[in-house]
Amino acid sequence: MIMPSRIILNRMTHKVIASACAALLSSLAVAQPVDPTDVSRGAYLARVGDCIACHTAGPQSPPFAGGLPLNSPFGIIYSTNITPDPVTGIGNYSLKDFSRAVRNGVAKDGRRLYPAMPYPSFTAITDDDIRALYVYFMNEVEPIHHKPPETKLPFPFNIRLSLFFWDAAFVKHKRFEPIDDHDAQWNRGAYLVRSLGHCGACHTPRGLAFQEKAYTESSPKYLRGALVDNWFAANLRGDPGSGLGRWSEADIAAFLETGHGAQIAAFGSMIDVIENSTQYFHKDDLNAIAHYLKSFPAYGEKATYKPDTPAAAIALSAIVTGDVERPGAGLYQSFCVKCHQETGTGESGKFPKLAGNSIVMSEKSTSLIRLLLEGSKTAQTRGGSKPQEMPRFAEKFSDQQIAEVLSFIRNSWGNTASPVTTRQVSSLRSALQKKQ
Ligand code: HEC
Ligand code: HEC
Ligand code: HEC
Repeated sequence: MIMPSRIILNRMTHKVIASACAALLSSLAVAQPVDPTDVSRGAYLARVGDCIACHTAGPQSPPFAGGLPLNSPFGIIYSTNITPDPVTGIGNYSLKDFSRAVRNGVAKDGRRLYPAMPYPSFTAITDDDIRALYVYFMNEVEPIHHKPPETKLPFPFNIRLSLFFWDAAFVKHKRFEPIDDHDAQWNRGAYLVRSLGHCGACHTPRGLAFQEKAYTESSPKYLRGALVDNWFAANLRGDPGSGLGRWSEADIAAFLETGHGAQIAAFGSMIDVIENSTQYFHKDDLNAIAHYLKSFPAYGEKATYKPDTPAAAIALSAIVTGDVERPGAGLYQSFCVKCHQETGTGESGKFPKLAGNSIVMSEKSTSLIRLLLEGSKTAQTRGGSKPQEMPRFAEKFSDQQIAEVLSFIRNSWGNTASPVTTRQVSSLRSALQKKQ
């Protein structure tokens, strides 16, 4: 009868250990009471920082347990487990360790983090906010025991120590400080965009060493548009053709909340940002971001929108007659008019307008080419309209046809932007095929 008693003994020891742990935990809790407002504020800040998007491997994977492969020019970088599991996650991180990882890019064991983790933006997070985030992760996030794949970059990028020099050269470690010349709303917007929102991680062009060329509005390169992972994240400066120059603050706030604003619809990687993150922003915060962005002067891009010109009228009649002299007009008439209309005005609440649409005139046409090749489905949000689909044309259209129809919409109804070349289409098509 040894076996059963051993089992009983085992169970008992488990129980004893468990209750000892509970006692220890509650004594810790007494020593350091958890402020419930910090927990809920922390949950909100984690939304704003979109931690879940990068730290979750996929829709079926446990949240925050890491393992998502992120493409970088140096190779694939896997996100880590940031659940409070003490072995595979950050369960044994103190507030100081957590702050050092998130704001300074150094893990508890001294490992330098690759800037695929947007700590160069997060470095601006305030002390109050980093504490609330910490309290949320330690108390509300479920610990998951899961070891994500290790990041193995080729030499010399595998030497994490060299990131010390990268960091010293490119990152200004500075907490956000309000600027007195601006009002409180502007400063709130600046804080959200520059720090937790890390909008610049996609929208600011990067240099040769993968560093963002600017981290604040004091540089004209800040948020002027950039290529990321075969999408072009649009110019968010005040340019009237391809930027936010003709958007109102209400348009921008609505776009971030629902994926629709100024009768323009979000697509590509911006959909993920909206679905995971910006749709949950408080109204005040959305308005603050819009207010801040609208303070940016234009960068100086060439695209323009002038609807009341003879050229605009000629383009319209080319569509109506399917003018073969004007490449793209016939294709547009046959394949696009049903949803986007002859006048390029789309259908309110359903199909985006193409006339005067800033993304249609964007400096780099990468996102447009990719959208036409792959098709898309509008963002699905709590308050947004029913999802609508844009069909894919990869099989239907040759590279030349895609170039023609895009050049046509970029130069019709008063839109003026550089044409799209067949070569641009074929090189993106093969880059996308390689990725699969
Ligand atoms: C754009 C993608 C991205 C976003 C957004 C992001 N992270 Fe990360 N994070 C990463 C990657 C990738 C790593 C691993 C980097 C490495 O291995 O060098 C990482 C590492 C970390 C680490 C280090 C953990 C360790 O010990 O290895 C912490 C802590 C962390 N992130 C917290 C956060 C928090 C909190 C947020 C939200 C406020 C966040 N991250 C948002 C990509 C991201
Ligand atoms: C993961 C990359 C990524 C991040 C992070 C990101 N964006 Fe975007 N964004 C894009 C892409 C790609 C587009 C172009 C497609 C589109 O217009 O929907 C875009 C488009 C936009 C547009 C529409 C511009 C236009 O002319 O059509 C706005 C406004 C915008 N982003 C605001 C933001 C703000 C504010 C943030 C930070 C809270 C942000 N984005 C973070 C990738 C990103
Ligand atoms: C069945 C309806 C439908 C047809 C046909 C269609 N589109 Fe679209 N189009 C959409 C929808 C819906 C979106 C928004 C997609 C999104 O946001 O994910 C869109 C988005 C776009 C955009 C990006 C503008 C923006 O604000 O999102 C461009 C450019 C575009 N379509 C061009 C075309 C061209 C060129 C054709 C013909 C070759 C075409 N579309 C055919 C429904 C359609």
